[in-house]
Amino acid sequence: MSEINWDKLGFDAYRTRTVVLSHYKDGKWSPVETTENFSFTLDPFAQVFHYAISCFEGLKTFRQKDGRIAIFRPDQNAARMQRTAKFLGIPAPDKDLFIKMCTLCVQNNLEFLPPYGHQASLYLRPMLFGVHPQMQLVPYPEAYFAVICAPAGSYYGEHLKSFAGVIPGNYDRAAPKGSGSYKIGANYAATFKPYKTAHDQGYTELLYLNSGTREFIDEFGSSNFFAIKGNKYITPLSDSVLPSITNKTLQEVAADFGMEVEKRPVRVEELADFDEAAACGTAVVITPMSHIDIKPVLEEDKVEKSYRFMPDGEVGEVCTKLYKRITGIQFGELEDTHGWCYHIEEK
Ligand code: PLP
Ligand code: COI
Repeated sequence: MSEINWDKLGFDAYRTRTVVLSHYKDGKWSPVETTENFSFTLDPFAQVFHYAISCFEGLKTFRQKDGRIAIFRPDQNAARMQRTAKFLGIPAPDKDLFIKMCTLCVQNNLEFLPPYGHQASLYLRPMLFGVHPQMQLVPYPEAYFAVICAPAGSYYGEHLKSFAGVIPGNYDRAAPKGSGSYKIGANYAATFKPYKTAHDQGYTELLYLNSGTREFIDEFGSSNFFAIKGNKYITPLSDSVLPSITNKTLQEVAADFGMEVEKRPVRVEELADFDEAAACGTAVVITPMSHIDIKPVLEEDKVEKSYRFMPDGEVGEVCTKLYKRITGIQFGELEDTHGWCYHIEEK
């Protein structure tokens, strides 16, 4: 294994040592397999290829200050995967199996767990997908559940720095009463093209509005949205938004700081009133927005409106405070009063 530069890690498909795998068939999960084989052999008719019967989770493992290893809130990811699997009509691992396989994945890839002190973690990617060969549009109780991992640093290349976001007037993320609140691969497929266009124009993130009336803020393509106004932490209430575990955590952290937490529909025009605005999620942690532009047509030059929160690259006081608290707990530097860190043995 070549030396890993722990300080230079991004968010990449980094090849580690083992994959942890189980196959649900004939009413039960197969014995958990830990394999160095990074290939799946599937029937070309498998549901996943044609009908995108596929979902995933994302969670991080930290080497803490005292040397212990902690996975952050895996019970929450297990519950969210069960909810998503129900939507897709495939079997899901129960909480114990989910956490057991995540734990095994860390234990069997320990050399890829970043040491304490590098602002990096081991990102776990549990994935669940339908493998039954079929043409009919009906659920079938067969699936692969695999956990893979990758050492991860900053999603956007730099920690705690503000970036530009854009609201694309000609793209939606999720239909009303559709799949937006589930962590299915198909939700992300629709973002690849607008992401490429936005990145080419210097924007880092896409902020989507509610598809029905386009009056309210939903979320970013990769993460939830929150804003700070005075002593308030404000985040959208919408059926089409993924229930983010980071956002849920930050709401509790904000409440611990004595802030008022508002979870409610957020009108686009309110962007003008916010002191700070940011993306939050496992991969992006907290990524503040320097400004957010509204473009009626993403591919065209016209910017209808621009909302500025921070000079480019700078970060507001509250986002900094929230970031320090959540990462401080994750790295074991601050007391974990809510019991969010799930400690595992080395082997
Ligand atoms: N929204 C979307 C679309 C995401 O992909 C993610 C990432 O998981 C989030 C929100 C944040 O969720 P979490 O904080 O659970 O990672
Ligand atoms: C995560 O934050 O874990 C994610 O899954 C985001 C990813 C889609 C960029």
